[in-house]
Amino acid sequence: MTTTAAAATAAKLLAVEAHAVALETTPGWVTREQPIFWSEPRPEARPAHWRYAAIRAALEQAAGLVDLSLAERRILALRNPFPGNNFATTRTLSCAYQYMLPGETASTHRHASHALRILLDARGTYSVVDRIRMPMETGDIVLTPGGCWHGHGHEGDRPACWMDVLDIPLTHLLEPMYFETYPDRAQPAERTVDASPWRFAAADIGRRLDDAEFTSPRGCVARVELSASGMPTMGIAVERLRPCAATDRRRSTASRCVTVTAGAGRSRIGTELFEWRFGDTFAIPSWVWYEHAAQEHSQLVEISDEPVMRMCNYYREEIAA
Ligand SMILES: [Fe+2]
Repeated sequence: MTTTAAAATAAKLLAVEAHAVALETTPGWVTREQPIFWSEPRPEARPAHWRYAAIRAALEQAAGLVDLSLAERRILALRNPFPGNNFATTRTLSCAYQYMLPGETASTHRHASHALRILLDARGTYSVVDRIRMPMETGDIVLTPGGCWHGHGHEGDRPACWMDVLDIPLTHLLEPMYFETYPDRAQPAERTVDASPWRFAAADIGRRLDDAEFTSPRGCVARVELSASGMPTMGIAVERLRPCAATDRRRSTASRCVTVTAGAGRSRIGTELFEWRFGDTFAIPSWVWYEHAAQEHSQLVEISDEPVMRMCNYYREEIAA
């Protein structure tokens, strides 16, 4: 092709591309500033760690200032430090510590997002979920499937604190979010139950862990998985760790939020090393290598988007040799 012919072709191509842009389309043959494919998972979320003692102290201070009769919830959300984020803990999950004083109630509402509570320190607290009242005691995990009316109350004599985990970032991405407040402040309970598909009592979790074997390759971890009835976006696993140098090192396309419900230890997540204690939470982004080392007998509650990844056939997992 002559230089003149090449220049004419280039000019025509530029005109085609300009027309394509005017049609609100993006030519696929042009090199993009932001690629849409890349060679392996590339999480925006970062490994991160939040300390329960410090956050609980901040909530204690807030308790004297934030009136639950006015505020929807007294929470501090765990904000992963990726740019532009102010509430997500991983790409798909948001976690928040919630704090209630004796005698308080948290008003009834419902929303598209699925939610669960990991009870860190609670005696005499309860949830009413679609008119069913169930206890929320230390060590329990209580579910609130999306669309269910739910409110909380506290009839104990000491402040209570727990971890809320919701799939709000995923709900935002898929865009089914809605939020409604109940016509009255609190939906009345029709009945009270101890056993429910939405409540995993601490004692039952403990019995299941007693029956679980320490089967991971290094024999450090016994793991049970709990069925999140009506909540297909979240996987719930409870792990009992015994003191050891380190668990196996692994990564997967799922992202995970891990709350420490007993013990102390450390986790290496990517290049970060986090020393954790009771009540702390840490975030494991997608495709980041991680391993745990318990310094004493410990228990971790891991909430993940693994069911979503599996449903989409996106789930991949690697364990280091
Ligand atoms: Fe809620």
